[in-house]
Amino acid sequence: MDLAAAVFIFSLLFTASDSALSLKSRNWDVYSFHINSTVTSRYAITVITSRVANTRDNSNEIDFHVKIPKTAFISKFRMTIDGQTYDGVVKQKEEAQQQYSQAVSRGQSAGLVSSVGRTLEDFKTSVTIAAHSKVTFELTYEELLHRRLGKYELLINAQPGQIVKDFKIDVNIYEKPGINFLEVKGCLGEKGLANAITTTRADKQAWVSFYPTHGQQMDCDGCGETGLKGDLKILYDVDRPQSQGDVTEHGGYFVHFFAPADLARIPKNVVFIIDQSGSMHGKKIAQTRGALLRILDDLAEDDYFGLILFNSDVSPWKRELLQATQTNLEMAKQFVKGITDHGATDINAAVLKGVEMIQQHPRNGSASILILLTDGDPTSGETNQGKIQSNVRKAIGKKFPLYCLGFGFDVNFEFLQKMAQENSGLARRIYEDSDAAQQLKGFYEEVATPLLTSVQMNYTGATNLTQTTFSYYYNGSEIVVAGKILDNNIDDFNTDVIAISKHDMVKYSDIKATKADKLPAVMSGFENFLQRLWACLTVKQLLKKELMLTGEEKEAVKKEALDLSLKYSFVTPLTSMVVTKPEGEDSQVANKPKEGEKPAVHSTRMFSPPSSATVQLRRTGQAYQGHKARSGRILNRLRISSPDYGAFHPPMMYGSIGHGIHHKLLPVFPESDYEDLTSLMLQATAIPVPKGAGLSPPPTVISVRTPVRFLMAAEGQSLPLCFDIPAGHSVKLLQDSASGFSMNGQLMSEGGNGFQKIIIRVNADKHIEFDTNKITIKDGQYMQSFMWTDSDTDHTTDSMIVIIRDSEADITMTNIRVVILLHRQDGKHFLWPAVRKRPLENEIPGIMGKLLVAYEEVNPTKLRIHGVEVNASSDSAGDYSIKAVPRVKCQLVDLKSALQGELSNFTVPQL
Ligand SMILES: *[C@@H]1O[C@H](CO)[C@@H](O)[C@H](O)[C@H]1NC(C)=O
Ligand SMILES: *[C@@H]1O[C@H](CO)[C@@H](O)[C@H](O)[C@H]1NC(C)=O
Ligand SMILES: *[C@@H]1O[C@H](CO)[C@@H](O)[C@H](O)[C@H]1NC(C)=O
Repeated sequence: MDLAAAVFIFSLLFTASDSALSLKSRNWDVYSFHINSTVTSRYAITVITSRVANTRDNSNEIDFHVKIPKTAFISKFRMTIDGQTYDGVVKQKEEAQQQYSQAVSRGQSAGLVSSVGRTLEDFKTSVTIAAHSKVTFELTYEELLHRRLGKYELLINAQPGQIVKDFKIDVNIYEKPGINFLEVKGCLGEKGLANAITTTRADKQAWVSFYPTHGQQMDCDGCGETGLKGDLKILYDVDRPQSQGDVTEHGGYFVHFFAPADLARIPKNVVFIIDQSGSMHGKKIAQTRGALLRILDDLAEDDYFGLILFNSDVSPWKRELLQATQTNLEMAKQFVKGITDHGATDINAAVLKGVEMIQQHPRNGSASILILLTDGDPTSGETNQGKIQSNVRKAIGKKFPLYCLGFGFDVNFEFLQKMAQENSGLARRIYEDSDAAQQLKGFYEEVATPLLTSVQMNYTGATNLTQTTFSYYYNGSEIVVAGKILDNNIDDFNTDVIAISKHDMVKYSDIKATKADKLPAVMSGFENFLQRLWACLTVKQLLKKELMLTGEEKEAVKKEALDLSLKYSFVTPLTSMVVTKPEGEDSQVANKPKEGEKPAVHSTRMFSPPSSATVQLRRTGQAYQGHKARSGRILNRLRISSPDYGAFHPPMMYGSIGHGIHHKLLPVFPESDYEDLTSLMLQATAIPVPKGAGLSPPPTVISVRTPVRFLMAAEGQSLPLCFDIPAGHSVKLLQDSASGFSMNGQLMSEGGNGFQKIIIRVNADKHIEFDTNKITIKDGQYMQSFMWTDSDTDHTTDSMIVIIRDSEADITMTNIRVVILLHRQDGKHFLWPAVRKRPLENEIPGIMGKLLVAYEEVNPTKLRIHGVEVNASSDSAGDYSIKAVPRVKCQLVDLKSALQGELSNFTVPQL
């Protein structure tokens, strides 16, 4: 058997196991999918119920995979099979992990079931049920809705993975003071689906229902055989007849919502501290400029402002704060437009400079705010993070808040979080997306209008209070305090609020609690919702507080948060949900991923032993394939040592064409590579079942295989070279022996434009495998798969960052950055690799290893390459390294001339 034939047969094997995955969901029928969400006093309890039948004649593993808001805590998970219920149990994380590792040592596979995206996190599990039997999955999660820019937002994600006969989302909202505004948004509410939504409003209640028909689930934008997929967002606000707020009592607990609006704006002194180090290069700095320009437009004339740029040097725009007059703003805008990036990151000096500027500008009746924007760790000046925190804390002395915005994933977010919290502010992650400027602007808007400072909430006749002092209260937000009423005696309970407004001290006194209305029937089972609200808020605040403490104090706070999490069965960063299953199946453990999680937390590495099928495949010399990561795992937010982008960034400066070969004459890489976030989930829905699926024997007739065309930038020439490689080959794409990195790919086996499979080896025990369905990351013993449709997924370890978004997987390592694009053409999916950053040597092994090729035109049909005359013809090629796939004119030559070597030098026997 010659090599090509062997490769072809291997590829058929792959194809067969691949399609097993996409066929899988047809082996069961989700005949009912309900999401019921009930919101009372901003406390939302959501239940997802999915009823599934095994349609096969033998037992079958059924998946349950849903996404829930990051801000929520899972509180219940139940499976019902043949009338038997299996309830998940919330345990202390370490204990759950131990149970888990016992399962592992018994040789059973078991796994974790969580990962994190921008606003949602995953819950995945599976269970095996008998032929033609049914299973009901029921997941409950709870959250306190937070008021932001004048609205509460309830986010519901639905993606049952197929068309469902009985598909319902019901949202019931009860707010005692009355609902004054309600809006339904999100892609599930758009276009053809809008008329599946019914909204009913009464004074204190609102109902939103979304009952899409079979046809609507089929025909909506981006829907298909895999049914609906997307978000429903319910935005609302409540009436506030009294500025002192609303105090509700229920079951011995109270909650006080305080959000007065009838106050004058307090003029601000605001200083923006902007990281302009080399790592901000490209889109980030451009988006920062854009956001700053818009923020400057929003400053009021009685605001004072300052701008500080920093890298290894700290460069204030002006030495002192200036008033936001038209003239000053115009000057500031000119300055902002000229902001560029270079150098290292001295956070310490920059923040201290900001504090100094604010302190030199005392002003009665004003509110001072420091906003730090950075995308990396301190690398210059003082770099000890503990020292920086302590310097900043001392300098600010609790006099005004510091907000820290962490741009992207190279930042140590926990460091920023801690620093912000120690200074009465908060930290927010800014995601590197096309809407980053809007995220920055949105954050600014939240703090743009201070109405009160030094807010002190006082309660008599109550105990177990959540946080009662707040440095600032901003218009559009809300202060929430909950607690327990002493001896359940509402008569002795009293509240007052003291704060400083623009002009003077304000006091709201003698605020009485009123009883919650009789709860609606839907709330049965959650009679103690106010107590749960209190517990939820308390746990969140304890988890933040714990971050700032050390030693015994830290342990005590952790213990308190843990005890509450266990008592109310919340899956928090301190607890895990052990998913129990029928006899003979292994339990799985669901964890809550923690923003900015540190490696130390994961010293007990969790892993899933490969299944026997996987092992077999490995033994035949193939990499992991067809093995669905039945054990997803919490995604570590590990920090990676910030790669130095400062030295080399052609991918962003110049266009990138073909294979990351950069040339300034080629089209510039589009800024909008992550544009159109809503389409991200839709690209890969209808995954075609490749021919040869279903494990039938390989066909005897081999079809004509169209070759795959590659582009290669040429030095000093306007037209790049192009050449063809016959389909089906497995080729060496890029190899860097210095770091142990390699990238190999297998071309589509029968026609098609790109690759069906790509494997990146980061080092000996870490690799990432891409096919047209999924991305599998294997790191030592740990393995996790993501579907291309798992939009908005990040995976970070100490040596690489993987971001999957919008049919692009972006893999960043210290000296290499590659992007794997998933394209679809003529109903076929295929992969294409693009190198965005690579080691500087002119030539490294692999067909994408050549930086540039030089040729001379001898005549219209002949080129001279390396002194040899070769035949050429003008032709064209699609540039698949760019999402839009522009058609590019090129000089077509044979492979040998372009690559300066035989094809066999570039093929590999297996990936
Ligand atoms: C959802 O709520 C509706 C009414 O609010 C109720 O009729 C239905 O049974 C609920 N569904 C589930 C699965 O709890
Ligand atoms: C606060 O916001 C409300 C609307 O959200 C607006 O009507 C009011 O004018 C704002 N107050 C100030 C002082 O800007
Ligand atoms: C601020 O107010 C205090 C007392 O209310 C007054 O003594 C002081 O002079 C004022 N400072 C400024 C800068 O107006």
